[in-house]
Amino acid sequence: MAKILILYSTTDGHTGKICQRLQQVIEKRAHQVTLVSVKDGPDVDLQPFDKIVIGASIRYGKHSPLIVDFINRNRQLLDSKANAFFSVNIVARKPEKNTPETNPYLKKFLKQIAWRPRKLAVFAGKLDYPRYRFFDRLMIRLIMFITSGPTDPKTVVEFTDWQQVEAFGRVISEM
Ligand SMILES: Cc1cc2nc3c(=O)[nH]c(=O)nc-3n(C[C@H](O)[C@H](O)[C@H](O)COP(=O)(O)O)c2cc1C
Repeated sequence: MAKILILYSTTDGHTGKICQRLQQVIEKRAHQVTLVSVKDGPDVDLQPFDKIVIGASIRYGKHSPLIVDFINRNRQLLDSKANAFFSVNIVARKPEKNTPETNPYLKKFLKQIAWRPRKLAVFAGKLDYPRYRFFDRLMIRLIMFITSGPTDPKTVVEFTDWQQVEAFGRVISEM
């Protein structure tokens, strides 16, 4: 049995939901998973864990600075254990942008950090216009208009491929 930490950053909760699905898949394989939001535990002690997984969503082109800071502060410890990283963003709803090799945010992120996660994943996120504040709704609708996505302000849609999430859970279990 391995002790696995999944540290994540979320704004509207969808990355947290993905983490919970990963937890279910991994715990079915008799490992123990601890979920920690980076907002609650920026100084979480990595030492007791065998594997570290970090996940973060994109907001206006960037992963949370808290996640970047966490990675930079803990790089040596991360490197000393089995580890993985995943990104959640809306651009990944497009089949040609939904892999670590083709997703522009993940590619850019890996150029910014010195850490080289051993496993990578990209998941398409959730669009939830009614939940967004006026300005965010306007901006996301504009981005969606430009990229041929849904612009109806009532739209709530999960683009996430849950089978892909579960497959990543199995990868984490086995790494
Ligand atoms: C204000 C805002 C800005 C966003 N900016 C981007 C973006 O620049 N690129 C992108 O692909 N997705 C963007 N998204 C989509 C989010 O990455 C997606 O909704 C994700 O599921 C959010 O996950 P979270 O609920 O864990 O924060 C944005 C969403 C919001 C609400």
